[in-house]
Amino acid sequence: MRHQRTKTCGECRLNHVGELVVLNGWVQAVRDHGGLLFLDLRDRYGFTQVVADPAQHSVLSEVGPECVIAVVGKVRARPAEARNTNRSTGDIEIEAIEIELLNTTKVPPFEVDDECRTREELRLEHRYVDMRRRPVLAAMELRSRLNYLMRQSMTEQGFMEVETPILMKTSPEGARDFLVPSRVHPGKAYGLPQSPQLFKQTLMACGIDKYFQICKCFRDEDLRADRQLEFTQLDMEMSFVRQEDVFAVMERLMTTVWRELARGEVAAPFPRMTWDEAMTRFGSDKPETRFGMELFDFADRARGSGFRVFAQAMELPQGTVRGMVVKGGAALSRKQIDEAEAVAKSYGAGGMAWVKLTAEGPQGSIAKFLAADDLAALTAAGAAQGDLVVFTAGRFEPALNALGQVRLHFGRVQNLVDSKLAHFVWITDFPMFEWNEDEKRFEAKHHMFTAPSEPLPPLGGDLSHLKASLYDLVLNGNEIGSGSIRIHQPEVQAQVFAHVGLTPEQAQDKFGWFLRVLEYGAPPHGGIALGVDRIAMILAGAASLREVIAFPKNASGICPLTQSPSAPDTKQWDELQLRPVSGG
Ligand code: AMO
Repeated sequence: MRHQRTKTCGECRLNHVGELVVLNGWVQAVRDHGGLLFLDLRDRYGFTQVVADPAQHSVLSEVGPECVIAVVGKVRARPAEARNTNRSTGDIEIEAIEIELLNTTKVPPFEVDDECRTREELRLEHRYVDMRRRPVLAAMELRSRLNYLMRQSMTEQGFMEVETPILMKTSPEGARDFLVPSRVHPGKAYGLPQSPQLFKQTLMACGIDKYFQICKCFRDEDLRADRQLEFTQLDMEMSFVRQEDVFAVMERLMTTVWRELARGEVAAPFPRMTWDEAMTRFGSDKPETRFGMELFDFADRARGSGFRVFAQAMELPQGTVRGMVVKGGAALSRKQIDEAEAVAKSYGAGGMAWVKLTAEGPQGSIAKFLAADDLAALTAAGAAQGDLVVFTAGRFEPALNALGQVRLHFGRVQNLVDSKLAHFVWITDFPMFEWNEDEKRFEAKHHMFTAPSEPLPPLGGDLSHLKASLYDLVLNGNEIGSGSIRIHQPEVQAQVFAHVGLTPEQAQDKFGWFLRVLEYGAPPHGGIALGVDRIAMILAGAASLREVIAFPKNASGICPLTQSPSAPDTKQWDELQLRPVSGG
């Protein structure tokens, strides 16, 4: 390269007129205006228009979009009518004196423009072209700023960044571990961290007092729009604290982030809502609170109802019947109601009962079962003529979750969400355990290191009502963080292991090292981890995490750029003393 830049493509203004400058960048477009060529030159910082006479620059015959060039030229003011107010460099242009072709290009797989309509897979396969587009670049810049602000806020609040191992003891936390077979110790494997949970708790025993880390976590689980196999957390832990202390640190951080990156003030402290309240009002442990349409309890009316589905639901353990008023919903077609029912079913409800309140009286699947008192209950819940009322019935969590999803469905269809709002809410007092019907055992709702809010019952006792010092941070219906006050006494930790079905031998084998940590004077402690990718996704207004990750995996867990995972060669398998079962 003979000509190294003296200015970036976003830098020149009227006050540079007359200066001799060198720009380096990619050719966005070449336009022929009556014999003169106009090139838009692009780099990370912007675009600059270059004017060149092809007769003087023979190299231009080889230059097309996405070629990399150096331009030596003079800055000059554009004529008033040719100024471009949409560009920061729109008042000037560069009169080319010399053009150096730094690299040619194959015809790009798609155009580098803001409104790229190319399918995502092709964009990710050619991410090096895709990221030259302004929206993708902007997402990367936003992420970089987010990381910076998080580090700054945590450091200013007295937290110390400590890196923890990536190769660690395999200890499934909820999802499946990724394993890394050891060459030196055949038959053994490291696990990749699902999170630094036990290391950060150990750091509290080390006396670090306030720890944080922006770290990668790895989970071998099914992918969704808001889940990746590897993702980034802002992980933190503090000693000698109560839940409110953790909340205050996170509120300071998030209000700063919102002020700087969303240009919006959010008021702290954030509202708090117990898990019970979130479930009963919104049918979700991550409630979207930017619109109403809250659920109401129909259990009293459902008990002994002529409608068998309702009556039977009330006989189940934790059985319930909940309703929701859809304003103006009496005008919905059968097809639209069926769509909502399909949502309920896909989230585990047996069905969705409904009634339309019309001038001719109640109409719909359950209308004939509704007595005057039932209709009065609907009116008390806010229903009026012209509305639709929908219901789900069954066990508490599945019935409410399904209706919560129907609520989100109608919120979307009826356009009820003001996307400019940012609603942060802390969800507290989660159940400590949940019942795993397949394995017929209780398992930890969050993870096994969360402290119970009250003493644990004897082994085999009912754990369903036990609450924990466990909290989530929710933003606009997304879980953006999760944490808890931890168990710091080894006896309590051993009890929890036993309650989730680990034998003392299994507990020793998997977590013996950690029980020892607790045995040597671990302080009371608690913390949280924020999902950095999810926060970036919301800030960017993106629909998927892939939009804010430089090189994401696709929905089947494949890296479209490198095509990983790939088959190791025979020598690599041999070194590990492993063999693929088939293929490979
Ligand atoms: P948890 O598993 O809830 O808690 O994770 C914390 C936050 O990380 C984000 N997150 C994800 N983001 C993208 N892809 C994924 N697959 C994914 N899984 C989780 C979510 C979530 O709220 N060790 C505990 C934290 C603690 O107790 O301090 C933990 O990892 O935003």
